[in-house]
Amino acid sequence: MPNTLTQQYIQDSVWKPDIYKGKVVFVTGGAGTICRVQTEAMVLLGANAVILGRNEQKTQAAAKEIEQLRPGARVLGLGNVDVRKVQSLKEAVDKTVAELGRIDYVIAGAAGNFLADFNHLSSNAFKTVIDIDLLGSFNTVKACFEQLRKNKGAVIFVSATLHYYGVPFQSHVGAAKAGVDALMNALAVELGPVGVRLNCIAPGLIGNTEGGARLSPPTEVPLDQKVPLGRIGSTTDIADSTVYLFSPAASYVTGTISVVDGGLWQIGGFL
Ligand code: HXC
Repeated sequence: MPNTLTQQYIQDSVWKPDIYKGKVVFVTGGAGTICRVQTEAMVLLGANAVILGRNEQKTQAAAKEIEQLRPGARVLGLGNVDVRKVQSLKEAVDKTVAELGRIDYVIAGAAGNFLADFNHLSSNAFKTVIDIDLLGSFNTVKACFEQLRKNKGAVIFVSATLHYYGVPFQSHVGAAKAGVDALMNALAVELGPVGVRLNCIAPGLIGNTEGGARLSPPTEVPLDQKVPLGRIGSTTDIADSTVYLFSPAASYVTGTISVVDGGLWQIGGFL
């Protein structure tokens, strides 16, 4: 299954084609696979977007490609942004507001991951992933907060399911994502009164992604047969959940974790 969306997405979609007209989505990790497709769906449905990453060239190239999906769309690519540094994000917010006028929605998707057993996982390696995934999610909301409050915005943190049980060689990521869920819970309660909604999406095994490729073990039973819904997930599955959670259809939904995994974690996950 391809990893980018086309205009066919609008034709197949249950959503109105211009549902996000006039809105702006701010996406960390937006040049990566899952967050890129989340961005594409929002842009196809009328939003403008800014994607942020550390790699200037990759981020700019992805922004140009996403912008071409819809005539009239504006997509900024801001490279050299490190979510571990809140000032770096604040500068990106200022540039976004100067160029696109506002921020309504935030996807905190920047993540770091590698497989490492405990004995070969240094304190700095553990801290690096906590800093990118957890501190990075905090910093992203921190930097966008004034825009979110002003525009009664919404935030999606990209979480995971691997901390629902013990996954070897992923102690750093599991700890970080558990923290992301906890951060979302607390902020949903704190920021609800000012009109800001926060939710997590927890993808399961998603095909053609860096995470999926790295983490899928060889198994006797093909993984698609293990998944209760009988198939590996697609980036479009994550995009659809994103469109729902930001939409008015979810206006009473905050503090939730949408697990989008075909039921896999219920039977013990893929590792
Ligand atoms: C053990 C490792 C390692 C590895 C890095 N380190 N890679 N340790 N095994 N494979 C250690 C380093 O030795 C160092 O510790 C510390 O981690 C920091 O490494 P740096 O390279 O200095 O950090 P940095 O340049 O910031 O890179 C961060 C990174 C990198 C996480 C290590 O891989 C990265 O930025 N990746 C981003 C892209 C990515 O991974 N995306 C995948 C997301 S998929 P010492 O002690 O030597 O100083 C995903 C799916 C999640 O998140 C869930 C799926 C189900």
